[in-house]
Amino acid sequence: MSIKRVAINTGGGDAPGLNAVIRAATLAGIRRDWEMFGIRNGYRSITEEKEAPLMTLDRTAVQGITMRGGTILGTANRGNPFEMPFKNDKGEWELRDESDHLVEEFKKQKLDALIAIGGDGSMHIASKLIEKGIPIVGVPKTIDNDLPETDITLGFDTAMSTAADSIDKITTTAEAHERIMVVEVMGRYAGWIALHSGLSSTADVILIPEIPFEFDSIVKKIEERRQRGRYFTMIVVAEGAVEKNGKRHVLGKAVGQAEQLGGVGEFVAKKLSELTGQESRHTVLGHLQRGGSPSSTDRLLSIRLGAEAIRAVNEEDFNKLIVTHGPELKRIPISDIAGKTKTVPLDGDIIQTARDIGICLGD
Ligand code: F6P
Repeated sequence: MSIKRVAINTGGGDAPGLNAVIRAATLAGIRRDWEMFGIRNGYRSITEEKEAPLMTLDRTAVQGITMRGGTILGTANRGNPFEMPFKNDKGEWELRDESDHLVEEFKKQKLDALIAIGGDGSMHIASKLIEKGIPIVGVPKTIDNDLPETDITLGFDTAMSTAADSIDKITTTAEAHERIMVVEVMGRYAGWIALHSGLSSTADVILIPEIPFEFDSIVKKIEERRQRGRYFTMIVVAEGAVEKNGKRHVLGKAVGQAEQLGGVGEFVAKKLSELTGQESRHTVLGHLQRGGSPSSTDRLLSIRLGAEAIRAVNEEDFNKLIVTHGPELKRIPISDIAGKTKTVPLDGDIIQTARDIGICLGD
């Protein structure tokens, strides 16, 4: 088969670096005389047929986008073609399998390959589309850094740095007011953002989903600091962190979407204020962590991933995810990681380092 037409899709939550992948893949594709396209707003646009689902990606379309956050293609969290939410005649939401429709459109558009940039949800969808005959190359994206088999995912470095900068800023207020300050960061079921940003911004307590926390342990840390004349405490909590024998804090769940997490920061701040009598405040960093210009580390990674995805398509080495292993890029079967999550290893050096320098991990 000679490759002629290639589409790129960005799925799930946006992340800094997506545009850098789109540009690099487009330029590398154009150099091979391929026609490059972007799928607008995720797979949903293909099945809805409201607007032309494909955007032509030429040199002009990708000019100057490397340093821009978001994705010029648009993305959708409710874009799973196997479970697409639609309102039925009674006005109720129902999930429909629109995957055959998507496959038909792919053929109708005479596309030869799809580059799917996404996280765990997108790779799960990709593995099912592969079974339906769509040739896919995957690119690992998520600020959460929770995809297995890759050292890092694009977007993580920027999100972690944004979180660390914000924690630095809040630390000065914590110190000035002698408060307990709790910063809630993203990361769903993995504590990568909390651990890396907390460690680099010298937080005193870091709570991650992998280690259920106990208030006794946090209070002990606060008291130990007071005895040393440090009357403020900085606490970083991942949105998916749970109290021992407690439940995850869930704000809600929309049809066809993952549950929306949030609230643990406020819970921790209030409880600590009750237990210690000290003033406390909480801040939820939220989508700040997904926005902004990608760091140079993320830009470089994204450009490398985009160009490698095109090399994989050129070699017709389909159904692979491009991953980083140390300084190298490798290709692994997408099916190896579909439905799996990479959590923080409790015996890893970063956890050991946190413990060695006296950070309380809530246990
Ligand atoms: O997966 C990326 C992520 O930012 C998570 O860290 C967070 O829980 C979720 O997406 C938020 O999604 P939404 O933008 O749909 O609220």
